[in-house]
Amino acid sequence: MEYNHIPVLYDEVIKGLNIKKDGIYLDGTLGGGGHALGILERLDKGRLIACDKDQDAIDNALERLKEHKDKLTLIKDDYKNIIARLRELNIEYLDGVILDLGISSYQIDTPNRGFSYIYDAPLDMRMDREQALSAYDVINDYDEKKLADILYQYGEERLSRKIAKAIMERRRQNPIRTTKELADIVAMCYPPKERYKYGNPAKRTFQAVRIEVNGELEGLKEFIYDIALYLRKGGRMCVITFHSLEDRIVKHCFKELEKDCICDKRLPVCGCDKRKEIEILTKKPILGKKQDIANKRAESAKLRIIERV
Ligand SMILES: C[S@@+](CC[C@H](N)C(=O)[O-])C[C@H]1O[C@@H](n2cnc3c(N)ncnc32)[C@H](O)[C@@H]1O
Repeated sequence: MEYNHIPVLYDEVIKGLNIKKDGIYLDGTLGGGGHALGILERLDKGRLIACDKDQDAIDNALERLKEHKDKLTLIKDDYKNIIARLRELNIEYLDGVILDLGISSYQIDTPNRGFSYIYDAPLDMRMDREQALSAYDVINDYDEKKLADILYQYGEERLSRKIAKAIMERRRQNPIRTTKELADIVAMCYPPKERYKYGNPAKRTFQAVRIEVNGELEGLKEFIYDIALYLRKGGRMCVITFHSLEDRIVKHCFKELEKDCICDKRLPVCGCDKRKEIEILTKKPILGKKQDIANKRAESAKLRIIERV
């Protein structure tokens, strides 16, 4: 399986970053390196720090971005650790950040990674294969309530309790080892008439388990605050999300960062230290294009852009 060479909302991100030739940029979610390449092509004396916690993404970038290796620093880590890594590199500010959240087409389309209900594979779903927790552990070790809560919160799955109960019942006989076994259990929880009415019924369960395995929402809020404040004045940040839970977090953080004062409106004078840190450049998110059929993830994408003030 190859990395998809067409990144989501490419033109919008490149324009949104307003790239300076000698700037320092961060791509926190390198993936196939499409956005990274666009940034590198526009740099002269500048530098791109590109991070991914999936070793496959780093290996692919070593080849795909080799022409630009003098301007590129690759880091295999969770982007939530990147501020410490930037400090180690003596980088004290950034001119731009791109975060293209979630999984890559490569990850979902590589059968043995176990992200997809389309292929039968061992339950895995780890972006970082050095990490201990996998989808197998979530499905076979979590208790019924915890499973139901995850399916409900991260998958917005209305049959969360029924599915969690069905998983527990199956577990009592045998461990659930594969994506197909899990997809079949979920499908059987739906009445036959509704089963395939809105696409594959396992979609929401798989999304929820993946978010749990990779801790996708944990610490996202804190990271957005910290990295926004790492931007130099005029520096830009583009964030692409693929589901409402992530988008809500990003939108809320940006609104908080934009606020100039958080005092009670009835107070005669401002007593807080809160100052406007950023300007939101996209009052409404830029939406992925439905016609961009080359990348099926594009359809649900939302891009939000800010500028440091
Ligand atoms: C949607 S893809 C990025 C695609 C990329 N923008 C491109 O142009 O090809 C998301 C990537 O981010 C990585 N990723 C997701 N969460 C991460 C995290 N917390 N830390 C590091 N990498 C992460 C995934 O492993 C995946 O490769």
